[in-house]
Amino acid sequence: MTFSKIIGVGSYLPKNLLTNKDLEESLDTTDEWITSRTGIKQRHIVSKNEATSDLALEASLKAISASGIDKNDIDLIIVATTTPDKVFPSTACILQAKLKINECPAFDIQAVCSGFIYALSIADNFIKTNSAKKILVVGADSMSKITDYKDRSNAILWGDGAGAVILSASDNLGILSTHIHSDGKFENLLHVPKKNDPSLIDTIEMQGSQVFKMAVNTLDKIVDETLLANNLHKKDIDWLVPHQANIRILEATARKLDMDMSKVIVTIDRHGNTSAASIPLALDQGVKENKIKPGNLILMEAFGGGFTWGSALIRF
Ligand code: ACO
Repeated sequence: MTFSKIIGVGSYLPKNLLTNKDLEESLDTTDEWITSRTGIKQRHIVSKNEATSDLALEASLKAISASGIDKNDIDLIIVATTTPDKVFPSTACILQAKLKINECPAFDIQAVCSGFIYALSIADNFIKTNSAKKILVVGADSMSKITDYKDRSNAILWGDGAGAVILSASDNLGILSTHIHSDGKFENLLHVPKKNDPSLIDTIEMQGSQVFKMAVNTLDKIVDETLLANNLHKKDIDWLVPHQANIRILEATARKLDMDMSKVIVTIDRHGNTSAASIPLALDQGVKENKIKPGNLILMEAFGGGFTWGSALIRF
């Protein structure tokens, strides 16, 4: 049987920092409120001339280097993003050009904060069906470009960044299963409404507390679904690598897994919510900090706009 194995991880964060103290200057908020309600202390923000594909490029180069492969062996590029450089071509095609890899297929997928899990799930199916052997899977977002910095309920949450993995066909265990879902009827709880005015930027609107409750309940269910599908138990999981939306959501999922928070990779304090980038950024952090090691069993999970949600269980 062929498995998809992660053979390289990389990530990138733009240089500019936006701290809670900075936000206190421009908004009716406090470091204390933001820290206690979300766990966020700072976020990285792109500069004016930096595009999502620039973040994706840096993360991809690091993942390629970590994997040791020749970049021309990549036979599929998938970028999960909500903040593409342009309506078209896809950020994946722009990334492909920047990487100078010719002719392999490249496309974006859009599932907001669940985007990386969706991309991983699609990539896994390409490998299992022998349609690709080496896939570059990227989660990259510049959420600051669709944030209203006058709205204190939103401006405090979002950060920018990118993470990437190289997936390779392997005889050894890798991705054990992926699970993806959506329910479009909740569109208005978390969306970017169209202002239909070219002079205005369309920005995120979220009914935060309603989304929070749905996220906690839905993530509980996806944990059960994933363990059941693999006939595994909570105690078998070595690391939780969750989408970083709110520390209280991470703590709720850890409680559901009877897991100590020391087994959860947490980056929300330093990165904020980087949407599709948050899981691969956290994975890279876990690897760099020498926490996640070969052979560990990792559960990734995410919930986001759509609503979309999903999980991936991986033997690293
Ligand atoms: N500073 C100070 N006070 C604030 C701020 C702020 N930055 N923002 C809101 N408040 C106030 C509100 O006005 C409200 O005041 P009131 O009681 O006088 O009306 C009070 O704080 C409580 O507001 P809530 O919105 O109920 O606060 P909550 O505890 O729910 O926290 C938050 C808000 C952080 C947004 C939380 O609801 C959350 O994390 N939601 C889930 C986010 C998520 O998971 N999204 C999905 C993934 S993202 C994606 O897919 C793109």
